[in-house]
Amino acid sequence: MVNVAMDGPVGAGKSSVARECARRLGFIYVDTGALYRSCALFCVRKGIEINEKNESAIADVLEKELSLTIDLIDGQQHVYVNGEDVSYEIRTMEISKAASAISALPAVRKYLLETQRSIAASNNVIMDGRDIGTVILPNADLKIFITAKPEIRAKRRYDELVARGSNVTLGEVLVEVNRRDYNDTHRKEAPLKQAEDAILIDTSEIDFEETVSGITELIQSRCDPEA
Ligand code: DC
Repeated sequence: MVNVAMDGPVGAGKSSVARECARRLGFIYVDTGALYRSCALFCVRKGIEINEKNESAIADVLEKELSLTIDLIDGQQHVYVNGEDVSYEIRTMEISKAASAISALPAVRKYLLETQRSIAASNNVIMDGRDIGTVILPNADLKIFITAKPEIRAKRRYDELVARGSNVTLGEVLVEVNRRDYNDTHRKEAPLKQAEDAILIDTSEIDFEETVSGITELIQSRCDPEA
């Protein structure tokens, strides 16, 4: 199986790039952020405060009460919490914050580790996240770290939120992007960082098509699905 790890900060364009590369190659695209978001949504709905103090209670409730599954419909990943498609609900600012908090808890990362590895073991995948190249798939065939300047990432995220009808300002989104960058890179457990053997791609100055075709070619030249 070919495993491609694609890590990077919020708004770098990872998911749309990874999804399109996977479509062109006939690979499965896995958005691991959606798994953290779904765990966060589940806890928020249950009224459980997400903090270190509640870590074991959170892990307990996830193990005992949450069934998390993903499915691919028309190339789009859908994620299900106990059978309910929550793909839309997990994209709010509230759940973004809660996902950032829950992803800092080692017990939650442990809970999601096997889910991610087992998907990669049986499929040609492009898996997007924060620690795919460093922790989840350290032996990935190819590791890519995608980034862009914070202002550019905030503008992309802002456009996405506005298109969904959200009433936010660009300034608020930039504050949120910086806050999440800080949390993701400073947490003790599996912080966001470029794997030593990852290829760095900065999308600040290159457009979507250029990024996608460059990465698709890289995957084709480095990885053999028949191997
Ligand atoms: O990629 P995203 O914005 O949907 O991710 C939501 C949160 O989950 C984000 O704060 C970082 C965290 N995350 C993580 O810690 N590890 C991953 N593999 C994917 C996401």
